[in-house]
Amino acid sequence: MVKTLAKSIREYTGKTVATPMVMIGEAAMEIFIPYVMSLLLTVIDPSDASEHSAWLQVLVERITSTQIGQVALYGFIMFLMACLSLLFGVLGGKLASEASAGFVANLRNDMYANIQNFSFANIDKFSTSSLITRLTTDASNVQMCFQMMIRMLIRSPMLFLFASIMSFSIAPDIAWIFILAAAVMALGVVFIISRATPNFKRMFERYDGLNRVAQEDLVGIRVVKSYVREDHEIEKYRDATRQVYHYSIKAEKWLTAMTPVVQGIIYIVMILVLGFGGSRIINNTGLTVPELTALLSYSTQILSGIMMVAMVLNFFAMSKNSADRIAEILEEKSTLTNGENPVTEMKDGSIDFNNVSFSYKKDGEVILDNIDLHIASGETIGVIGATGSAKSTLVSLIPRLYDVAEGSVKVGGVDVRDYDLKYLRDNVSMVLQKNVLFSGSIKENLKWGNEFATDEEIESAAVAAQAKEFIDSNGRGYDYDLGQGGVNVSGGQKQRLCIARALLKHPKILIFDDSTSAVDTRTDALIRQSLKEQSPEVTKIIIAQRIASVQDADKILVLDNGKVSAFGSHEELLRTSEIYREVAESQMKGGDDNG
Ligand SMILES: Nc1ncnc2c1ncn2[C@@H]1O[C@H](COP(=O)(O)OP(=O)(O)OP(=O)(O)O)[C@@H](O)[C@H]1O
Ligand SMILES: [Mg+2]
Repeated sequence: MVKTLAKSIREYTGKTVATPMVMIGEAAMEIFIPYVMSLLLTVIDPSDASEHSAWLQVLVERITSTQIGQVALYGFIMFLMACLSLLFGVLGGKLASEASAGFVANLRNDMYANIQNFSFANIDKFSTSSLITRLTTDASNVQMCFQMMIRMLIRSPMLFLFASIMSFSIAPDIAWIFILAAAVMALGVVFIISRATPNFKRMFERYDGLNRVAQEDLVGIRVVKSYVREDHEIEKYRDATRQVYHYSIKAEKWLTAMTPVVQGIIYIVMILVLGFGGSRIINNTGLTVPELTALLSYSTQILSGIMMVAMVLNFFAMSKNSADRIAEILEEKSTLTNGENPVTEMKDGSIDFNNVSFSYKKDGEVILDNIDLHIASGETIGVIGATGSAKSTLVSLIPRLYDVAEGSVKVGGVDVRDYDLKYLRDNVSMVLQKNVLFSGSIKENLKWGNEFATDEEIESAAVAAQAKEFIDSNGRGYDYDLGQGGVNVSGGQKQRLCIARALLKHPKILIFDDSTSAVDTRTDALIRQSLKEQSPEVTKIIIAQRIASVQDADKILVLDNGKVSAFGSHEELLRTSEIYREVAESQMKGGDDNG
């Protein structure tokens, strides 16, 4: 997981490495200040001087011999160190925030790029809300954790180490108290963290739920309103926030115990140091008052160093879940990849299903069962079948939105798995049943089909899709803004734009999955008519609920529960297929074939 994520550091490696270095500099300054302070105190009260002089003392005495001069010089050195410490601290903070923000920006982009590579099967695996949580909340968690780690994870142990060395050099017997206290504190902190972490983990899981509720509700807000389900949705959201609240309170409860425990231990240590140190000074056993002040500073540094390490580890534990969930996205391999030497030439638009079986999940329910079907190039095929009879599933295998479980699908005599994926999908144009337009103008949306399309090509596609009339009458023509998800057009207009978009690809195979369900019968017939005239060589597959939409087709496929029930012309099927006859009769009798 660490390895996967670390790949996204890239150009921020320099800053990531520099941060801990600078932080070590800051720690060093913090260690030396108490030391210089103790030397300064020795100048003020020379009776406290220990037997041997330190190098700094020798140096200072050489520069000036007056007491006041030495005090000023030590003061100046301390001032310099404080400035340096401040400088290092600020620089470290700046570097750390730049490194972490840059790293996470890369991380988000890498995740997003991989998600775009996902196949339909990959997308089925992760829910949209979970993907959004991973791109937002999880990435933010990792950013905070990363920043804290590069700032503290090396600095704090260093501070601990330096301070320990200094205190042992001053008074080994007292320094032992620090180590003992540090051990006790580490135990206490680990205990607290072990209590808090599982609750944090649960809290983050509830975030997923929170996002799911919000996302689902907001995407479907119109449906919510039309069914007057607002109160129900508010309650659902309230429940989700309550869950997050519950676990964050539980987790925070333990964390709030941390500061008092740490403070308590620091005070106890100070009392012990003052007690032992004081008695040693009174008994004149080699400890001086300045040394005791230095020891007190070091004790605080050692213990806060431990606390910092613990905090970072705690953060790490909290963010580990987020990091794992991000790594999951980065490591997810698309289930559809190009083979070696992918084919980039399609002979014609013939389609062969050779004993194809399919299920959405491995060893799951069989959706398509042993389909054997052969369609010649240029034919028009209608597909009819009850809802859930696997019409959409069947056609999704042709542009390889999913891979077959058994058998093979061939286009132009070549297995679809052998084609270059982009080439295949450019030549097999499919108007999905659940189609969407994106914010932007009509022209921008149509150009998805072919980014190099000229205005004439766009116009001719619009004419064929019977979309020209309403485009011309909207006042802004092809620059008309569709709004988010294409809210600014009617259902039937949207379907016609989707058809125009698919036509612009100039494919060898065109698939309409219930693409004219919201279009009136006359326009529907006009669309089929112009397709027939404009692109006679293109193989067309038309899935429809209305017999009228398919009865002119060369052949009609009747699907029943994932199996081919009948395949033939309208007249043949009226004679041979009971299912087809029933559907045809019911639509004829109703007289209204609009629905
Ligand atoms: N992404 C998916 N993951 C799992 N199961 C799915 C998925 N899509 C469809 N199914 C299942 O596959 C079966 C066939 O669905 P499909 O969408 O192919 O039917 P359909 O004939 O197109 O129906 P409709 O006329 O309503 O569009 C259904 O039982 C459905 O539950
Ligand atoms: Mg369908």
